Amino acid sequence: MHPHMKEILLDEQQIKERVLQLGQQITRDYQGQNILMVGILKGAMIFLADLVRNIDVPTSFDFMAVSSYGAGAVSSGAVRILKDLDKSIDGRHVIIVEDIVDTGLTLQYLVENMKARGPASLKICTLLDKPSRRKVDVPVDYNGFSIPDEFVVGYGLDYNERYRNLPYIAVLKPEIYRS
Ligand code: PRP
Ligand code: MN
Ligand code: MG
Repeated sequence: MHPHMKEILLDEQQIKERVLQLGQQITRDYQGQNILMVGILKGAMIFLADLVRNIDVPTSFDFMAVSSYGAGAVSSGAVRILKDLDKSIDGRHVIIVEDIVDTGLTLQYLVENMKARGPASLKICTLLDKPSRRKVDVPVDYNGFSIPDEFVVGYGLDYNERYRNLPYIAVLKPEIYRS
């Protein structure tokens, strides 16, 4: 385990099994349709890459980059578009893919923003959900794991842009983000 980690919350095998299940569920739900997966950079990148390889209906992807957290560990609530979608989503079956739903502020903004662009349908898929931290209600359609209120990194999730490349999800030692 990385020396900055307190404990591993979800190991590689647990993540792999759950991502397979989510892919199979999405495959069943979207029979006969084409999906547009919208990954929210940068956190969702690793999850999206693994998820789409477990989906067996025609799937394309696009990306949006937004930022609400800046350099800190606490959400500012202000969402900024850093990179917009490349193409129109009008008439498309869109699934927004996130690594984690925390306060819900990022997704609330994204859902409103994308609904206005006229998709045929819009769903949310997140690997992690931290329900205890929710400030606004967002309709999560696919959730990998509900987790306690601890600062987790790895498998796409960062602290100050670090640890995204860890293959597992772990709790960061408090002294690392306090220092
Ligand atoms: C993180 C995370 C989600 C969002 C969740 O992204 O990846 O996108 O915050 O928080 P919320 O529910 O409180 O809005 P971040 O802004 O850190 O950008 P990143 O994905 O590039 O790390
Ligand atoms: Mn993010
Ligand atoms: Mg981040």
